[in-house]
Amino acid sequence: MSDSEVVRREDRGRVAVLTIDRQEKRNALNAEVRRAFAAAIDAVNLDAGVRAVIITGAGDKAFVAGADIGEFEGRTPVDQWRVMKAPTMFEAVERSPKPVIAAVNGFCLGGGMELALACDVRLASASAKFGQPEVNLGIIPGGGGTQRLPRIVGLGAALKLILSGDLIDAAEAHRIGLVEEVLPPTELMPRAVALAETMASKSPVALAAAKEATRAALSLPLDDGLKLETSLFQLCFASEDKAEGVRAFLEKRAANFTGR
Ligand code: COA
Repeated sequence: MSDSEVVRREDRGRVAVLTIDRQEKRNALNAEVRRAFAAAIDAVNLDAGVRAVIITGAGDKAFVAGADIGEFEGRTPVDQWRVMKAPTMFEAVERSPKPVIAAVNGFCLGGGMELALACDVRLASASAKFGQPEVNLGIIPGGGGTQRLPRIVGLGAALKLILSGDLIDAAEAHRIGLVEEVLPPTELMPRAVALAETMASKSPVALAAAKEATRAALSLPLDDGLKLETSLFQLCFASEDKAEGVRAFLEKRAANFTGR
């Protein structure tokens, strides 16, 4: 299934793969890509048939090489403010009730890095390169990089990347905890699909609750986070999926979750 030229959607069973395809510009995010991506992720979020999502870049050179720098030239601060006030693709990914995996297949820079940071899990090809090179342009990360990167890799590692603009390879990204796994390029998508399928086989109610509770750990005080966890646990306990999961275990069979 294809939604647009620049953001392709392909459903593999219960896993939706969104591919950003603007290869001649290293999949850089221009207004058209942002619009198409927002439409694609909104559609996926509302599609009960989709249980997990993979985001990747087309070709073997780039995941996403950042915001389209060409669009910065001549743009007024007010126009830029309007662009950034609109609901962003980063929040749409982070707030998705479904698990979202970044399959990082090449340059993952600036806004591309920020897109990967908004995903729940990052898998990288051994040839991927990561960086927040905004300081080279006299700007700073504006898609959440200054906030999400330190929450994932810690303050020192985040500041080293953001203040130097340096690129790091996949092995270093793994060492600092930026990516969960590094794979040979040909194994990246098979592994991403296998992991997404594992997640897709679980209860959608439990997945959404687990994602919301775990992500809240980064923004809530412990007591509030524990209260949220308890109420989301209770929500799961009231679900048909919980009854099915427990019954399936006791009957020694695979559970068939419906998301109710
Ligand atoms: N915005 C707009 N165009 C971009 C782009 C971006 N972020 N990243 C790459 N491109 C374009 C290049 O301008 C070039 O266009 P052209 O063929 O019309 O000249 C094309 O993509 C290929 O890029 P090129 O630099 O020739 O490829 P490369 O493989 O040698 O290098 C990068 C790839 C990603 C390292 C390099 O293009 C780069 O540094 N891009 C900018 C990254 C950045 O600063 N991102 C943060 C933006 S806030």
